[in-house]
Amino acid sequence: MSTTGGGTVYLVGAGPGDPDLLTVKAQRLLQQCDALVYDSLVPREVLALVPESAEKHFVGKRRGHHSVPQPSTNAVLVELAGRHRCVVRLKGGDPFLFGRGGEEAAHLERHGVAVQVVPGVTAGIAAPAYLGIPVTHRRAGSSVTFVTGHEEIDKRRPSVDWRGLARSSDGLVIYMGLHNLAHICEELIAGGLDPSTPAAAVQQGTVRGQRSVIGVLEELAQAVQQADLASPAIVVIGEVVNQRVETCAPEPAAVEMPIPIPIAITQAEPLPVKPG
Ligand SMILES: C[S@@+](CC[C@H](N)C(=O)[O-])C[C@H]1O[C@@H](n2cnc3c(N)ncnc32)[C@H](O)[C@@H]1O
Repeated sequence: MSTTGGGTVYLVGAGPGDPDLLTVKAQRLLQQCDALVYDSLVPREVLALVPESAEKHFVGKRRGHHSVPQPSTNAVLVELAGRHRCVVRLKGGDPFLFGRGGEEAAHLERHGVAVQVVPGVTAGIAAPAYLGIPVTHRRAGSSVTFVTGHEEIDKRRPSVDWRGLARSSDGLVIYMGLHNLAHICEELIAGGLDPSTPAAAVQQGTVRGQRSVIGVLEELAQAVQQADLASPAIVVIGEVVNQRVETCAPEPAAVEMPIPIPIAITQAEPLPVKPG
């Protein structure tokens, strides 16, 4: 579909939290944008790059909290692109990895809005890295699977075949997995994964508040509970955890994430949803 001649929406990956992990392109767009639409998992220091004059909309979704419905977010993006030259849709990590970036890009294209994706550093690689854990290693197999543990988000999506994954993937990187962790670990063991497989969980990777547990699969859920780890967290399962090189892990950045309340919102409520 040809575009309307309005502005461009950039689906920008903010990275996992540490502002130093922003890409150069993301930083440039944030500094130049006329409007910003952003989620919860972005620290204030990143949002502070945006000009004060830019219109800002918070559309964050947090488990157990009010969330802006996806159609409203889509409508906001289309509307903003009609009034602004450069609209940044900022998403934690990478926009195309469990970030609904694909849905938003398709919606914008359908509505004739120019859209470009700006990949970001995903939490599933960065959070383990901040413990010194590589997500692949030649001595630890040849495959890794990025998988969501939060299956009920969208009933239209088929549920994850954990038993199948136990047999087919050397390493697993699980997003949004804390709430289902006991079930996930049980299913992986039932699928044939050795209960003593190395496993780790990292809360708030790359930022202040980073905490982790490292252990074995059969004890992971209990260890996470005892350590009181909370979302956002990444779980890594597989021999890669044993390839950890602790001394290469960077210090987490001294920034808070997720941000507790939206900052400097010019319009607190999303714009009305337009049909289509
Ligand atoms: C909706 S997904 C978005 C993932 C994002 N698009 C990415 O590429 O990292 C949100 C989940 O990502 C993970 N996550 C995001 N940031 C994280 C961080 N700094 N530390 C640990 N996990 C994080 C958590 O599993 C969280 O529940």
